[in-house]
Amino acid sequence: MAPWYPPLTMATTTHASLLDDARGLLDDTIQLRRRIHRHPEIGLELPRTQQTVLEALDGLPLKIRPGQKTTSVVATLDGARPGPTVLLRADMDALPLTEDTGLPFASEVPGAMHACGHDTHVAMLVGAARLLAARRERLAGRVLFMFQPGEEGYHGARVMLEEGLLDAEPPAFAFGLHAGARYASGVVATRPGPLMASGDTLKIVVRGQGGHASAPHDCLDPIPIACEMVQAFQTLVTRRVNAFDPAIVTVAKIEAGTTRNVIPETASLLGTIRTVSESTRTSVLEGVKRVAEGVAAAHGAQVGVEFVRGYPVTVNDADGATRVLRVATALLGAERVYAMPTPVMGSEDFSYVLQRVPGAFAFLGTRPESGPAYPNHSNRMLVNEAALPTGIAMHVAVALDVLGGH
Ligand code: NI
Repeated sequence: MAPWYPPLTMATTTHASLLDDARGLLDDTIQLRRRIHRHPEIGLELPRTQQTVLEALDGLPLKIRPGQKTTSVVATLDGARPGPTVLLRADMDALPLTEDTGLPFASEVPGAMHACGHDTHVAMLVGAARLLAARRERLAGRVLFMFQPGEEGYHGARVMLEEGLLDAEPPAFAFGLHAGARYASGVVATRPGPLMASGDTLKIVVRGQGGHASAPHDCLDPIPIACEMVQAFQTLVTRRVNAFDPAIVTVAKIEAGTTRNVIPETASLLGTIRTVSESTRTSVLEGVKRVAEGVAAAHGAQVGVEFVRGYPVTVNDADGATRVLRVATALLGAERVYAMPTPVMGSEDFSYVLQRVPGAFAFLGTRPESGPAYPNHSNRMLVNEAALPTGIAMHVAVALDVLGGH
């Protein structure tokens, strides 16, 4: 797709030297990434990863604040002159799965793997801290480095906000990057407006009355009622949701019954609901509850509907995304920048930060040059480490753009 903003065909000299400086950190960045990759930790408590980050930042002119409730790290870099604050973020946690990449630096922790590239996020942000510290004299303002645990379902960003991440000096701009094989190595992709979906969990239990499978009239069979709900949810999505503000309701698990000749008492449904606007999120959650209760009532069954609220919609500020696309184009050339036509339906807890601070989240392509491009969360997920300097340079270039360091 052609970029919709004014394309620049040549990277500027300043940007060329920034990319060179970032490339100069390639070996260190790879080493740090691999060290984290070997020792993945899951959730909000990542003591070893936190220690690694603290060691990697040691010696830089930063004020360091480790988290109180979690193993987060907040580091601030004060520029030579006063000015706005820019927040740069890296999430640090791994996933509960067993790695099957055969890499020499594969996970040494059974049942844990950096399969979402958060190891690279940490290494790139450390690299950015080094380059920005070296440019401190040119900075008018402050950089807040946010090293966050618990992105994979633990609301780690929200915990950091509750701990006062933004309180001392509310940032004027927030930026984060996510690595993945969706895009070619070194491509930066984002868009104004919604970038990623909300992700809520749906749990339903239909309660009828059990009995002999040959005498359904003496029972209240919950299975056809549960099936009717699954169908009715799809009608809800196609008939009640604006096609240009989409939603997904997936029932991914149905559980009922024990054997062929017993009608069970209950049937349970488990699924996920994705939307790309908070208004549609609200109306779909309300609609699913209404439909489930209505279908159950129509058949005289009881139903319990429960939602476990996941992350909000990740919404890029329109000016913020435009800024990131412009900075990326100046840094990398238009052919390495992709203005995404649509959001993706994954979810991300940087959404909590973007609810409070204007800014943008973006994707960094880390697809291997050859071989299969296993997606994030795959046990075979691979990262093209040659893309890491691009991510470092993006963090720095965005910060310099806001703090007037050029
Ligand atoms: Ni991730």
